[in-house]
Amino acid sequence: MENCKALFNRLAASRFGTFSNTFIVTGRMTIKEYKNDLESSAYENLLCMNTEDTSELEISLLLEAIYQQYGYDFRQYSKAHIRRRIMNRMALSGIKDVSLIQSKVLKDETFAYELLQDLSITVTEMFRDQDFYKSIRENVIPLLKTYPFIKIWHAGCATGEEAYSMAIILQEEGLYDRTTIYATDFNPRALSRAKEGIFSNKLMADYTTNYQLSGGKESFSNYYTSSYDNVIMNQSLKKNIVWANHNLVTDGVFAEVHLILCRNVLIYFDQNLQNKVQNLFYNTLISGGILCLGSKEGLRYTDFSEDYTDLDKKQRIFKKRY
Ligand SMILES: C[S@@+](CC[C@H](N)C(=O)[O-])C[C@H]1O[C@@H](n2cnc3c(N)ncnc32)[C@H](O)[C@@H]1O
Repeated sequence: MENCKALFNRLAASRFGTFSNTFIVTGRMTIKEYKNDLESSAYENLLCMNTEDTSELEISLLLEAIYQQYGYDFRQYSKAHIRRRIMNRMALSGIKDVSLIQSKVLKDETFAYELLQDLSITVTEMFRDQDFYKSIRENVIPLLKTYPFIKIWHAGCATGEEAYSMAIILQEEGLYDRTTIYATDFNPRALSRAKEGIFSNKLMADYTTNYQLSGGKESFSNYYTSSYDNVIMNQSLKKNIVWANHNLVTDGVFAEVHLILCRNVLIYFDQNLQNKVQNLFYNTLISGGILCLGSKEGLRYTDFSEDYTDLDKKQRIFKKRY
């Protein structure tokens, strides 16, 4: 397992910048939008493929092969998500049969890395869902203020925007110096970008609006310096963030924390896996700790629905019972 991880990390390091996230397809995407996203030849390949022929069994065998060879366990991810992403990779690489994907994954490490990137959707933004961040300021910050030191875990942090957003709020609320933020993901490429904290200038107009609508108190440009086409987040925001590779499926508890944010990650997991990850969160949170999920995620069908109270029902913010 360690060797496989090392391999993935090495491939990631050597290929940064060459893989693109252009072909992200979400459950909300229509085929028309999908078509716009795909190169036309790849789209034609997709149309030639009979999706019904892409059998459950073939996909299960492919996921088993990825797990056995590379240690990444997608076997309990949502079937619809996995199928979409595999079809996308098949369309892009002109492969018309899942079993051919399987043999390519086993023999071609670079291809395997591309597929692993496909299966990890890293879409994110600063102050995503402004009402959620408003609620953090109104409902969560007052609770955090009662602790002498604070530990926060961003599980599935992607390229880091969520952790930087939290760091900004904590600075404005005078809490940052007594906080450690653990920001984790299993995608080394995304983590490396998160650590750099370099984002495209083009995103800043939207991020500034998000920041303002979420109750930001300063000028958003105070938090970065511009450098050509990019911006670099301030060192003062990075200093208490620990970036770490952690796989929610295969890794265990690593710290006791006061607040967990795991947003827009569990939607890709099936019900059993969501339950397993909720067990991990329950064991990681202190009594009275806070759990934040994404707008389409909840505790309702898990074993833990009775173990939390609602802090903000609409924003999916829960407080662990004492
Ligand atoms: C859509 S992003 C969400 C980013 C951020 N939380 C947000 O809401 O904007 C989902 C992230 O979950 C990560 N992820 C998926 N499966 C994971 C796993 N098993 N362990 C850790 N991270 C995982 C992906 O790599 C991706 O970066």
